[in-house]
Amino acid sequence: MEYQWYPGHMAKAKKDIKESLKLVDVIIELIDARIPYSSKNPDIDELAGNKPRVLLINKADLADDRVTAEFKSFYEEKGYFVIVTNAKNGNLKPVMNVVRDACKEKIERDKARGMINRPIRAMILGIPNVGKSTFINSYAKKACTKTGDKPGVTTGKQWIRLSKELELLDTPGILWPKFEDAKVGLNIALIGSINENILDSHELALKLLSYLTKNYPGAVNARYGVEEKEDSLELLYDICSKKACLKKGGEPDTDRMSFTVADDFRGGRFGRVSLERPADYTK
Ligand code: G4P
Repeated sequence: MEYQWYPGHMAKAKKDIKESLKLVDVIIELIDARIPYSSKNPDIDELAGNKPRVLLINKADLADDRVTAEFKSFYEEKGYFVIVTNAKNGNLKPVMNVVRDACKEKIERDKARGMINRPIRAMILGIPNVGKSTFINSYAKKACTKTGDKPGVTTGKQWIRLSKELELLDTPGILWPKFEDAKVGLNIALIGSINENILDSHELALKLLSYLTKNYPGAVNARYGVEEKEDSLELLYDICSKKACLKKGGEPDTDRMSFTVADDFRGGRFGRVSLERPADYTK
Protein backbone atom coordinates (compact mmCIF):
# COMPACT_ATOMS: atom_id res chain seq x y z
CA MET A 1 0.00 0.00 0.00
CA GLU A 2 1.30 3.44 -0.79
CA TYR A 3 0.63 6.50 1.27
CA GLN A 4 0.88 10.18 0.79
CA TRP A 5 0.34 12.20 3.90
CA TYR A 6 -1.47 15.48 3.92
CA PRO A 7 -2.15 17.56 7.04
CA GLY A 8 -5.80 16.40 7.03
CA HIS A 9 -4.79 12.72 7.00
CA MET A 10 -2.35 13.29 9.78
CA ALA A 11 -4.90 15.06 11.96
CA LYS A 12 -7.43 12.25 11.40
CA ALA A 13 -4.86 9.53 12.14
CA LYS A 14 -3.81 11.35 15.29
CA LYS A 15 -7.41 11.65 16.49
CA ASP A 16 -8.12 7.94 15.83
CA ILE A 17 -4.98 6.92 17.66
CA LYS A 18 -5.78 9.15 20.61
CA GLU A 19 -9.20 7.47 20.93
CA SER A 20 -7.75 3.97 20.72
CA LEU A 21 -5.00 4.73 23.18
CA LYS A 22 -7.57 5.33 25.89
CA LEU A 23 -8.41 1.64 25.71
CA VAL A 24 -4.95 0.14 26.03
CA ASP A 25 -2.38 -0.48 28.75
CA VAL A 26 0.66 -0.54 26.53
CA ILE A 27 1.77 0.72 23.13
CA ILE A 28 3.73 -1.52 20.80
CA GLU A 29 5.42 0.55 18.12
CA LEU A 30 6.93 -1.25 15.15
CA ILE A 31 9.96 0.19 13.43
CA ASP A 32 12.03 -1.13 10.54
CA ALA A 33 15.39 -2.57 11.57
CA ARG A 34 17.06 -1.16 8.45
CA ILE A 35 16.12 2.39 9.55
CA PRO A 36 15.26 2.28 13.25
CA TYR A 37 15.56 6.04 13.61
CA SER A 38 13.89 7.21 10.39
CA SER A 39 10.97 4.80 10.74
CA LYS A 40 10.12 5.97 14.26
CA ASN A 41 7.42 8.59 14.62
CA PRO A 42 8.37 11.26 17.14
CA ASP A 43 4.83 12.61 17.61
CA ILE A 44 3.75 9.44 19.31
CA ASP A 45 5.63 10.57 22.42
CA GLU A 46 3.15 13.32 22.92
CA LEU A 47 0.15 11.02 22.30
CA ALA A 48 1.42 8.22 24.50
CA GLY A 49 1.35 10.06 27.81
CA ASN A 50 2.65 7.78 30.53
CA LYS A 51 1.73 4.49 28.88
CA PRO A 52 4.53 1.95 28.85
CA ARG A 53 6.22 1.71 25.47
CA VAL A 54 7.42 -1.39 23.72
CA LEU A 55 9.50 -0.93 20.58
CA LEU A 56 9.59 -3.77 18.14
CA ILE A 57 12.57 -3.54 15.82
CA ASN A 58 11.02 -5.58 13.02
CA LYS A 59 12.43 -7.02 9.77
CA ALA A 60 15.62 -7.80 11.64
CA ASP A 61 16.22 -10.58 9.10
CA LEU A 62 16.96 -7.85 6.51
CA ALA A 63 19.24 -5.68 8.65
CA ASP A 64 22.80 -5.80 9.89
CA ASP A 65 22.74 -7.62 13.27
CA ARG A 66 25.56 -5.54 14.73
CA VAL A 67 23.76 -2.27 13.99
CA THR A 68 20.43 -3.64 15.21
CA ALA A 69 22.06 -4.51 18.54
CA GLU A 70 23.42 -0.95 18.77
CA PHE A 71 19.94 0.47 18.18
CA LYS A 72 18.45 -1.87 20.78
CA SER A 73 20.77 -0.41 23.42
CA PHE A 74 20.21 3.12 22.09
CA TYR A 75 16.45 2.86 22.66
CA GLU A 76 16.71 0.92 25.91
CA GLU A 77 18.78 3.78 27.27
CA LYS A 78 15.90 6.07 26.36
CA GLY A 79 13.51 4.02 28.51
CA TYR A 80 11.84 1.79 25.90
CA PHE A 81 11.31 -1.93 26.29
CA VAL A 82 12.85 -3.22 23.09
CA ILE A 83 12.56 -6.45 21.18
CA VAL A 84 14.07 -7.47 17.88
CA THR A 85 11.73 -9.45 15.63
CA ASN A 86 10.96 -10.96 12.28
CA ALA A 87 7.18 -10.72 12.13
CA LYS A 88 7.03 -13.30 9.37
CA ASN A 89 8.10 -16.00 11.81
CA GLY A 90 6.25 -14.63 14.80
CA ASN A 91 7.38 -16.15 18.05
CA LEU A 92 5.08 -14.83 20.72
CA LYS A 93 7.01 -15.85 23.81
CA PRO A 94 9.80 -13.24 23.70
CA VAL A 95 7.27 -10.54 22.83
CA MET A 96 5.08 -11.61 25.73
CA ASN A 97 8.03 -11.50 28.12
CA VAL A 98 8.91 -7.94 27.14
CA VAL A 99 5.27 -6.77 27.27
CA ARG A 100 4.96 -8.31 30.73
CA ASP A 101 8.08 -6.44 31.86
CA ALA A 102 6.74 -3.21 30.43
CA CYS A 103 3.45 -3.66 32.28
CA LYS A 104 4.88 -4.80 35.58
CA GLU A 105 3.37 -1.89 37.49
CA LYS A 106 -0.08 -2.42 36.01
CA ILE A 107 0.03 -6.14 36.79
CA GLU A 108 1.01 -5.40 40.38
CA ARG A 109 -1.63 -2.73 40.71
CA ASP A 110 -4.30 -5.14 39.46
CA LYS A 111 -3.11 -7.79 41.86
CA ALA A 112 -3.28 -5.40 44.78
CA ARG A 113 -6.88 -4.61 43.84
CA GLY A 114 -7.72 -8.29 43.60
CA MET A 115 -8.07 -8.20 39.80
CA ILE A 116 -6.29 -11.32 38.77
CA ASN A 117 -6.13 -12.60 35.18
CA ARG A 118 -7.10 -9.30 33.61
CA PRO A 119 -5.34 -9.41 30.26
CA ILE A 120 -2.99 -6.67 29.19
CA ARG A 121 -4.45 -4.72 26.30
CA ALA A 122 -2.09 -3.45 23.64
CA MET A 123 -2.17 -1.51 20.44
CA ILE A 124 0.15 -1.84 17.47
CA LEU A 125 1.39 1.36 15.87
CA GLY A 126 3.82 2.24 13.15
CA ILE A 127 4.40 4.03 9.87
CA PRO A 128 3.27 2.19 6.71
CA ASN A 129 5.11 -0.92 5.62
CA VAL A 130 6.97 -1.74 8.83
CA GLY A 131 5.05 -5.02 9.22
CA LYS A 132 2.08 -4.16 11.46
CA SER A 133 -0.46 -6.37 9.64
CA THR A 134 2.06 -9.16 9.26
CA PHE A 135 2.73 -9.00 12.99
CA ILE A 136 -0.95 -9.08 13.92
CA ASN A 137 -1.74 -11.86 11.46
CA SER A 138 1.17 -14.07 12.28
CA TYR A 139 0.78 -13.76 16.07
CA ALA A 140 -2.97 -13.97 15.93
CA LYS A 141 -2.88 -17.09 13.77
CA LYS A 142 -1.07 -18.92 16.54
CA ALA A 143 -3.41 -17.87 19.29
CA CYS A 144 -6.43 -16.33 17.88
CA THR A 145 -9.80 -15.77 19.30
CA LYS A 146 -11.54 -12.53 18.56
CA THR A 147 -13.20 -11.31 21.68
CA GLY A 148 -15.59 -8.89 20.03
CA ASP A 149 -17.05 -5.78 21.48
CA LYS A 150 -17.30 -5.47 25.20
CA PRO A 151 -19.97 -3.44 26.94
CA GLY A 152 -18.69 0.01 27.73
CA VAL A 153 -16.07 -0.11 25.01
CA THR A 154 -16.43 2.03 21.91
CA THR A 155 -18.36 0.01 19.39
CA GLY A 156 -16.46 -1.43 16.48
CA LYS A 157 -13.31 -2.20 18.43
CA GLN A 158 -12.25 -5.79 18.12
CA TRP A 159 -9.75 -7.45 20.37
CA ILE A 160 -7.63 -10.39 19.44
CA ARG A 161 -6.75 -12.60 22.35
CA LEU A 162 -3.16 -13.71 21.85
CA SER A 163 -2.93 -15.43 25.20
CA LYS A 164 -4.61 -15.39 28.58
CA GLU A 165 -2.40 -12.44 29.35
CA LEU A 166 -2.49 -10.33 26.20
CA GLU A 167 -5.12 -8.84 23.92
CA LEU A 168 -4.40 -6.76 20.85
CA LEU A 169 -6.57 -4.19 19.18
CA ASP A 170 -7.14 -5.76 15.76
CA THR A 171 -6.55 -2.61 13.70
CA PRO A 172 -3.13 -1.08 13.95
CA GLY A 173 -2.58 2.66 14.26
CA ILE A 174 -0.99 4.03 11.13
CA LEU A 175 1.52 6.71 11.93
CA TRP A 176 2.93 9.29 9.57
CA PRO A 177 6.66 9.37 9.11
CA LYS A 178 8.73 12.34 10.08
CA PHE A 179 9.38 14.54 7.13
CA GLU A 180 11.65 17.14 8.55
CA ASP A 181 14.90 15.91 7.13
CA ALA A 182 15.83 14.88 3.58
CA LYS A 183 17.83 11.88 4.74
CA VAL A 184 14.84 10.53 6.65
CA GLY A 185 12.65 11.02 3.56
CA LEU A 186 15.12 9.09 1.47
CA ASN A 187 15.30 6.26 3.99
CA ILE A 188 11.56 5.82 4.29
CA ALA A 189 11.24 5.89 0.50
CA LEU A 190 13.87 3.16 0.33
CA ILE A 191 11.89 0.85 2.60
CA GLY A 192 8.79 1.54 0.50
CA SER A 193 6.85 3.41 3.16
CA ILE A 194 6.00 6.40 1.00
CA ASN A 195 5.12 6.60 -2.61
CA GLU A 196 8.38 6.47 -4.49
CA ASN A 197 7.01 8.58 -7.31
CA ILE A 198 7.00 11.62 -5.13
CA LEU A 199 10.72 11.24 -4.80
CA ASP A 200 13.10 10.96 -7.69
CA SER A 201 13.75 7.23 -8.12
CA HIS A 202 16.95 8.01 -9.91
CA GLU A 203 18.29 9.98 -6.96
CA LEU A 204 17.14 7.20 -4.64
CA ALA A 205 19.12 4.59 -6.57
CA LEU A 206 22.26 6.75 -6.78
CA LYS A 207 22.23 7.45 -3.03
CA LEU A 208 21.68 3.78 -2.31
CA LEU A 209 24.52 2.66 -4.58
CA SER A 210 26.85 5.20 -3.04
CA TYR A 211 25.89 4.09 0.48
CA LEU A 212 26.29 0.40 -0.33
CA THR A 213 29.70 0.72 -1.96
CA LYS A 214 30.96 2.73 1.02
CA ASN A 215 29.42 0.72 3.83
CA TYR A 216 28.91 -2.75 2.41
CA PRO A 217 31.70 -3.16 -0.13
CA GLY A 218 31.17 -6.19 -2.34
CA ALA A 219 27.36 -6.18 -2.07
CA VAL A 220 26.74 -4.41 -5.40
CA ASN A 221 29.35 -6.52 -7.12
CA ALA A 222 27.78 -9.69 -5.75
CA ARG A 223 24.35 -8.65 -7.03
CA TYR A 224 25.20 -7.31 -10.50
CA GLY A 225 28.71 -8.56 -11.28
CA VAL A 226 30.10 -5.06 -11.89
CA GLU A 227 33.22 -3.45 -10.53
CA GLU A 228 32.32 -1.06 -7.73
CA LYS A 229 33.31 2.59 -8.13
CA GLU A 230 32.86 5.85 -6.27
CA ASP A 231 30.91 7.58 -9.02
CA SER A 232 27.43 6.12 -8.58
CA LEU A 233 26.12 7.42 -11.89
CA GLU A 234 28.91 5.60 -13.71
CA LEU A 235 28.15 2.57 -11.59
CA LEU A 236 24.47 2.73 -12.57
CA TYR A 237 25.47 2.91 -16.25
CA ASP A 238 27.72 -0.13 -15.77
CA ILE A 239 24.88 -2.06 -14.13
CA CYS A 240 22.57 -1.17 -17.05
CA SER A 241 25.14 -2.49 -19.54
CA LYS A 242 25.87 -5.60 -17.57
CA LYS A 243 22.18 -6.43 -17.17
CA ALA A 244 21.36 -5.33 -20.74
CA CYS A 245 18.88 -2.84 -19.32
CA LEU A 246 18.79 -0.64 -22.41
CA LYS A 247 16.35 1.60 -24.19
CA LYS A 248 15.33 0.94 -27.79
CA GLY A 249 18.26 2.87 -29.23
CA GLY A 250 20.71 0.95 -27.05
CA GLU A 251 21.15 3.69 -24.45
CA PRO A 252 21.28 2.61 -20.78
CA ASP A 253 17.78 2.65 -19.29
CA THR A 254 18.72 4.25 -15.98
CA ASP A 255 15.09 4.88 -14.99
CA ARG A 256 14.15 1.22 -15.18
CA MET A 257 17.38 0.15 -13.50
CA SER A 258 16.81 2.66 -10.69
CA PHE A 259 13.52 0.94 -9.85
CA THR A 260 15.23 -2.44 -9.94
CA VAL A 261 17.99 -1.30 -7.60
CA ALA A 262 15.48 0.04 -5.06
CA ASP A 263 13.38 -3.10 -5.39
CA ASP A 264 16.43 -5.31 -4.86
CA PHE A 265 17.16 -3.41 -1.68
CA ARG A 266 13.58 -3.83 -0.39
CA GLY A 267 13.74 -7.52 -1.14
CA GLY A 268 17.01 -7.93 0.79
CA ARG A 269 18.94 -8.92 -2.33
CA PHE A 270 22.06 -6.98 -1.32
CA GLY A 271 22.32 -9.03 1.84
CA ARG A 272 21.61 -7.68 5.30
CA VAL A 273 21.97 -3.92 5.20
CA SER A 274 21.25 -1.18 7.76
CA LEU A 275 20.93 2.32 6.36
CA GLU A 276 21.67 4.23 9.54
CA ARG A 277 23.44 3.93 12.87
CA PRO A 278 22.77 5.42 16.30
CA ALA A 279 26.02 7.39 15.95
CA ASP A 280 24.42 9.34 13.07
CA TYR A 281 22.00 10.83 15.60
CA THR A 282 24.07 11.18 18.73
CA LYS A 283 26.73 13.60 17.46
P1 G4P B 1 2.15 -2.57 7.46
O1 G4P B 1 0.92 -3.29 7.95
O2 G4P B 1 2.96 -1.99 8.58
O3 G4P B 1 1.90 -1.55 6.40
O4 G4P B 1 3.14 -3.66 6.82
P2 G4P B 1 2.79 -5.13 6.28
O5 G4P B 1 2.47 -6.03 7.41
O6 G4P B 1 1.82 -5.01 5.16
O7 G4P B 1 4.21 -5.57 5.71
C1 G4P B 1 4.83 -4.93 4.62
C2 G4P B 1 5.74 -5.91 3.92
O8 G4P B 1 6.80 -6.29 4.81
C3 G4P B 1 5.08 -7.23 3.51
O9 G4P B 1 5.74 -7.63 2.31
C4 G4P B 1 5.49 -8.18 4.62
O10 G4P B 1 5.48 -9.53 4.21
C5 G4P B 1 6.88 -7.72 4.91
N1 G4P B 1 7.33 -8.04 6.27
C6 G4P B 1 6.70 -7.79 7.44
N2 G4P B 1 7.46 -8.17 8.49
C7 G4P B 1 8.60 -8.66 7.97
C8 G4P B 1 9.81 -9.18 8.56
O11 G4P B 1 9.99 -9.23 9.79
N3 G4P B 1 10.78 -9.57 7.67
C9 G4P B 1 10.64 -9.48 6.33
N4 G4P B 1 11.64 -9.89 5.56
N5 G4P B 1 9.52 -8.98 5.75
C10 G4P B 1 8.52 -8.58 6.57
P3 G4P B 1 5.04 -7.52 0.90
O12 G4P B 1 6.09 -7.80 -0.08
O13 G4P B 1 4.31 -6.22 0.83
O14 G4P B 1 3.98 -8.63 0.96
P4 G4P B 1 4.21 -10.23 0.86
O15 G4P B 1 4.67 -10.42 -0.54
O16 G4P B 1 5.24 -10.64 1.86
O17 G4P B 1 2.85 -10.74 1.15
